[in-house]
Amino acid sequence: MNTNSKSIAFDVEKIRKDFPILSRKVNGYPLVYLDNAATSQKPQVVIDALVDYYSNYNANIHRGVHSLSQEATDAYEQAREKIRAHFNIKKTREVIFTAGTTHAINLVASGFRKILQKGDELIVSALEHHSNIVPWQMLCEETGAVLKVLPMNEQGELDLVEYINLLSNKTKLVFVNHISNALGTINPIEEIIEKAHKVGAAVLIDGAQACSHIKPDLQTLNADFYTCSAHKMCGPTGVGILYGKEGWLAKLPPYQGGGEMIKEVTFEKTTYAELPHKFEAGTPNIADGIAFGVALDYLNTIGFDAIANYENQLLEYATEKLLEIEGLKIYGTSAHKTSVISFNIKNIHPYDIGTILDKLGIAVRTGHHCAQPIMDFYNIPGTVRASFAFYNTFHEIDVLVEAIKKAKVMLT
Ligand code: ALA
Repeated sequence: MNTNSKSIAFDVEKIRKDFPILSRKVNGYPLVYLDNAATSQKPQVVIDALVDYYSNYNANIHRGVHSLSQEATDAYEQAREKIRAHFNIKKTREVIFTAGTTHAINLVASGFRKILQKGDELIVSALEHHSNIVPWQMLCEETGAVLKVLPMNEQGELDLVEYINLLSNKTKLVFVNHISNALGTINPIEEIIEKAHKVGAAVLIDGAQACSHIKPDLQTLNADFYTCSAHKMCGPTGVGILYGKEGWLAKLPPYQGGGEMIKEVTFEKTTYAELPHKFEAGTPNIADGIAFGVALDYLNTIGFDAIANYENQLLEYATEKLLEIEGLKIYGTSAHKTSVISFNIKNIHPYDIGTILDKLGIAVRTGHHCAQPIMDFYNIPGTVRASFAFYNTFHEIDVLVEAIKKAKVMLT
């Protein structure tokens, strides 16, 4: 591959200037940040939006008649509207601000406590992050519902034949990630949703890993719930969304009680606010919500087609180069995957490789990636995971490959 022409076409060097952190050094080496599946870096416009809010119009929202409160309320609600438009969500009231994906999944799981009955079945995919397993296990313990597992194959793909066998009129909910955080597999969620709906089951899609790479159209997708976190999408930590179809959100009880989520409170009875506020108790994460909207503007200016195209080139190049290292095995080899590469080198613990890479300025994640069942499937303690974003370069991949070769020599 001619890496120069690829990178120049995308103008990655211009993009990198938007991210102040990318010019720093770590342990005396230029930072090579390849832990984007854990969290993305933030462009200056997002950092500026946070400083602007706190410097110029910090106030609580939906509460005051004063000008600052009005300005803050408008900015926060504009961010909700940007999110609605970005995901092509039909109604603004279907966009619930949350603290992130984990919060959103727990909100839905908690809401199903009163809906599920003993013997109802839930289907979880084998590729899930713990955040899309544990809340459902807790729900099953409480309700007597049964958790069934949609298995995966050696390539890290879900077994859709087995999925058909698992589905029945007992199935009430199916939950699957859009993209696996540990392996990068892009799951066939359109088919999964369609088949679940045929038996009357609802579907929740965990989009935490997907939304930095692709732009889902939620009306076309037809999932009942879809979640994501801003911090994986160049936005701040501590904010994300739950999209839910209005019918479902109306049916679920509030998750938390407090200010803002009520219509009227007396000691005898409380009535709840309309959507989306019914699920937004307490003072929200105002600054981060506003900055989430700015992050979406930023990503859309670059364009998701351009992002996906460039990241696919990075993935292809990195896969080719890494496989040249003798003894290196990649976990997650589906033809449908995004720019995440999980790997191990024969007999070397992933943590040891990660530690040496860090000494050379390279940030990767090591361990089970909050997806222990996937590690159990492969019978390994964990992997080294390099995850690439649109601001990474082909040169950084070369640096990674040379560093891994060095680590291998040191550790064998
Ligand atoms: N879910 C994040 C990851 O995969 C933290 O690293």
